[in-house]
Amino acid sequence: MIHFTVLLGVSLALLVIPFSIATSRKKYRGRHLPGPRALPFIGNILDLLAHSLLKTLRQWANEFGPIMQVRVLQKNLIILNTMEAVSEVLNKRKNLYSNRPWFHMAGELMTAHESIIFSQSNESWKRRRRCAIQGLRPTKKRAFQREQQKMRDALLYRLGKNPDEFREEIRLCSARQILSPLYGLVPQSSQDKIVRLGEFLSEEVSGAAVLGNYAVDLFPILKYVPPSLPGMGFMDRARNVRELLQVTIMEPFLFAVNQSEASESFSSNFVLEQLASDTTEPPDVHESDIKWAAYSLYVAGVETTLVSVLLFIALMIQNQDRQNKGREEIEQVLPPGKMPLHDDIVNLPFCQSLVKETLRLYPPIPLGLPHMASVDDEYLGYHIPRNSIMVPNIWAIAHDPRLYGKPDEFIPERFMDRTEDVLDPSAYIFGFGRRMCPGLDFGMDSVNLICLSILASFNMTHKKDRKGNDIVSELEFGEETVSSMPKPFQCRFEPTPRYFEWQASMKE
Ligand code: HEM
Repeated sequence: MIHFTVLLGVSLALLVIPFSIATSRKKYRGRHLPGPRALPFIGNILDLLAHSLLKTLRQWANEFGPIMQVRVLQKNLIILNTMEAVSEVLNKRKNLYSNRPWFHMAGELMTAHESIIFSQSNESWKRRRRCAIQGLRPTKKRAFQREQQKMRDALLYRLGKNPDEFREEIRLCSARQILSPLYGLVPQSSQDKIVRLGEFLSEEVSGAAVLGNYAVDLFPILKYVPPSLPGMGFMDRARNVRELLQVTIMEPFLFAVNQSEASESFSSNFVLEQLASDTTEPPDVHESDIKWAAYSLYVAGVETTLVSVLLFIALMIQNQDRQNKGREEIEQVLPPGKMPLHDDIVNLPFCQSLVKETLRLYPPIPLGLPHMASVDDEYLGYHIPRNSIMVPNIWAIAHDPRLYGKPDEFIPERFMDRTEDVLDPSAYIFGFGRRMCPGLDFGMDSVNLICLSILASFNMTHKKDRKGNDIVSELEFGEETVSSMPKPFQCRFEPTPRYFEWQASMKE
């Protein structure tokens, strides 16, 4: 489908580009950025579409250093490959880099720039982000943790019954952990409408944010082509997403409001609190801001939690010795029959290192989300033109041999070494500057709790075939979305004695 659309886009773009080059020549303040050789007009599109994106970028990062430029038509993608570069540019100069580039498909056509995630840094983004941060504020941490523990208990119980459905069960738990404090809503199954809609929208929009998945992001002129022409099916797809988004935003919102009318006990959830504070602080929040803030937290939170836990399970299967070592730590620290609670995590440093090393080896969003330069700027003497798209190469930072020895290996012990100051991945996997993930604390609490509880409850091994041989499934990733979502894999969950003791104590 994309090939016809690309051809159409190239033809239209070729009509426009010579004119735009002639009118956009500017004086450069510094040296030109290094980067791969770009073809006339189309730049590096072919390189980016042809091979695995992460591999290509890693090769280029080795060749060109901390900052490099990749060109897509007349757009500059500036890739920051080191911790120093992202800290100096995106963190220290956050006022200049808080904008997002214009996402034609994910931002404009699918979400009409309403969600926090892909929106420009305008007034409504500021209100919605403030709303989200206020909803997740540290004073509510305890209430969130209690909710996370309840949902964790349900997950363990269900995993014991349906171990083969672990992907769906973890999705359900991730969704519940967020929907419950947001709306007071606890879906009963991963097939519930709200869970399925969240999954569908997250995949559609996240997929649309990957440059190259939709030709309209390369050739925005396609937006003005009649939708009836061949190759224009993306317009229908965007309309479908917009319609389903309305349902996803309205139904849980109305549920929260109606529940509060029926029962006062629901009055502590996010949506209602935000409505109650409508006239106080923040002063200018509209009802639509609350709906979009809640939706943004939901879709961003579920996918990242699910990805992190699935990667943890995959790495535990591959690293049986480390898995056993983690479980031994739990056995030494926690009394029989107890599952870890948030306050226990600090006393389980090796288990924590297992999670940190998972998130380092496979950062859930390996190229972060792009920021945009609002002004002309300079870094290391290189000129950064205004409107450049800034891509934080989180993957390259996590695999930087200057920060982590043997960066491609799973070595949780690196975080236990007290003689060396090893960079905690949470310093970069949650993004940067004013766009940094507002769900950092909530997300880490949730991922740690789920991973450590599964570790305490089950020995995770390869499934066996009829002859008793291991079914070894390679860890593979789809490149269709911005996250490192692993492709489906199999796992055998054998309950531990602690799991049976815990179950018995729950029945008492
Ligand atoms: C392990 C878990 C998570 C990881 C690794 C993660 C990572 C990220 C990253 C890399 C960004 C882009 C930041 C940037 O532009 O520089 C982001 C944005 C965002 N995240 Fe997370 N996240 C996680 C969990 C969560 C959770 C649990 C929530 C909600 C409760 C959440 C809500 C959001 C939102 C709303 C944004 C958009 C912020 C904006 O554009 O202003 N995330 N996240």
